[in-house]
Amino acid sequence: MPTVPLPNLLAAAREGGYAVGYFEAWDSYSLEAVVEAAEAERSPVVLGFGCAMVDGAWLDGGGIEFLAGMATHAAERTTVPVSVLFNETHTLEQAQRGVEAGFSAAMVDTCEMPESEARRVVAELTRWAHQRGAAVEGELGHLPNFTGTTVDTSGSHLTEPDEAGEFVRATGVDCLAVSVGNVHLLEGNEASLQLDRLGAVGQAAGVPLVLHGGTGLSAGALPAVIAGGVAKINVGTGLKRAFLQAMREALCRDASPHDLLGSHKPVDAAVAGKIKMRDEVQRLMHLYGSAGRAGS
Ligand code: 13P
Repeated sequence: MPTVPLPNLLAAAREGGYAVGYFEAWDSYSLEAVVEAAEAERSPVVLGFGCAMVDGAWLDGGGIEFLAGMATHAAERTTVPVSVLFNETHTLEQAQRGVEAGFSAAMVDTCEMPESEARRVVAELTRWAHQRGAAVEGELGHLPNFTGTTVDTSGSHLTEPDEAGEFVRATGVDCLAVSVGNVHLLEGNEASLQLDRLGAVGQAAGVPLVLHGGTGLSAGALPAVIAGGVAKINVGTGLKRAFLQAMREALCRDASPHDLLGSHKPVDAAVAGKIKMRDEVQRLMHLYGSAGRAGS
């Protein structure tokens, strides 16, 4: 199936009262996990790769095109609606290269940039991407990070509802990532969300909202989050954790290196990781309400 423009995928989610997941992949096995989960659940989904944890020199040295090739190939083979996102690039140029290489949507990580620079970069990317039929996610406010022991709020700030409408108009973004108590990399705990703030931002923004930090969201908060305007939830850390756990167990088996690595047989350690991640993605698709929304 051809990829669906991200705004269309998100508009359908808003209309249907559910959220789509962006389940961040990092290699072909993790990408397959998301595709297989979406097919099994007949769920629309956002496929893609993120840059936040990835070496910039590797990306610039051909990694961008390598990732885009995998993502677009996987997308073409799906029978459910998918968009293909290049998430949290380090620079404007990386986002543009990603779109040129086939991603249907991009987002620049602006959290280290001064505000005026962030706006300029996002507006420039949006103007450029729209001319090529691609979509852009912007971010207003910055999430804190979980360090493994505490939530580090230095450099983070919440999204202000009275800035959201102006930001969306000035930059032209298709969807808006918000900081309303959600936390990046949060494991073993649940973020405490400011739902009133979320609702006010959703009203003011006029575009679908995105919540990063999906690992730390509680299942109980999801109905209110979706009612408050969220159409996409980004998940990363919990998926890698599940994948790694299964892979570690599989690596302890006494098997040939050719079977354990790259065989794509059930004995392949990364296949064990993929299966565990696929189960987790399927579980989340039910929680987000996207399961069964792709039709038969
Ligand atoms: P988590 O790793 O906290 O799930 O967040 C992922 C994310 O927001 C990717 O954009």
